Amino acid sequence: MTLHSYDILSETPDHLRGVYDIVHVRNFSFVIRDLEAERVIGNVLQLLKPGGYLQWAEVDALSYRIEKTSPGCKDDALKELMRLGRGADDRTTPHWVPEIPYYYQQAKLEEVESDVKDAPPYMAVAKHECNLIVPEMLARTTQNSALSERFSRLIPEAMEETHGGAYWAFTRLTVVGRKASG
Ligand SMILES: C[S@@+](CC[C@H](N)C(=O)[O-])C[C@H]1O[C@@H](n2cnc3c(N)ncnc32)[C@H](O)[C@@H]1O
Repeated sequence: MTLHSYDILSETPDHLRGVYDIVHVRNFSFVIRDLEAERVIGNVLQLLKPGGYLQWAEVDALSYRIEKTSPGCKDDALKELMRLGRGADDRTTPHWVPEIPYYYQQAKLEEVESDVKDAPPYMAVAKHECNLIVPEMLARTTQNSALSERFSRLIPEAMEETHGGAYWAFTRLTVVGRKASG
């Protein structure tokens, strides 16, 4: 195996152009901004051989809702954390994710197929706990100390609400398409 690291917003290095049969991309949703999505998808396509496949898997953060194991579960901190997070950084609300099939069509990919899934019940809380890292990261990276304190105060409360049976739920999207052969 050979590993290469480069900036996906920059020019694709010559030695990586048209090299791969399959490119799999995952979890770029909190990395790319809406206005960068078309360029990034175009850059990723440059990695593929003609006839190669692109598979792209993302959480659709716009599908956010709260699920509860019973109607009485508390969810105030979970709701407030989501509200603050969305205000703190626009990358937490990536509008480009549900548009991936559209970008594939624009790029003239063939055999485009989308798989849209919600977490099965036995995975839902585990996936939610992975997502609780996002407010933790925002608390550490924001330049706004008052906001950072609010995140830090709410995270333990959100953990308690999680143990009480409330959690964030998101739909996940995987889109496959084939680059034209000729
Ligand atoms: C949320 S992680 C996902 C990692 C992995 N794909 C996965 O699903 O476990 C986002 C990744 O994007 C990478 N990244 C951020 N900005 C990038 C850029 N401009 N060009 C290439 N990679 C970038 C980060 O280094 C990080 O590895």
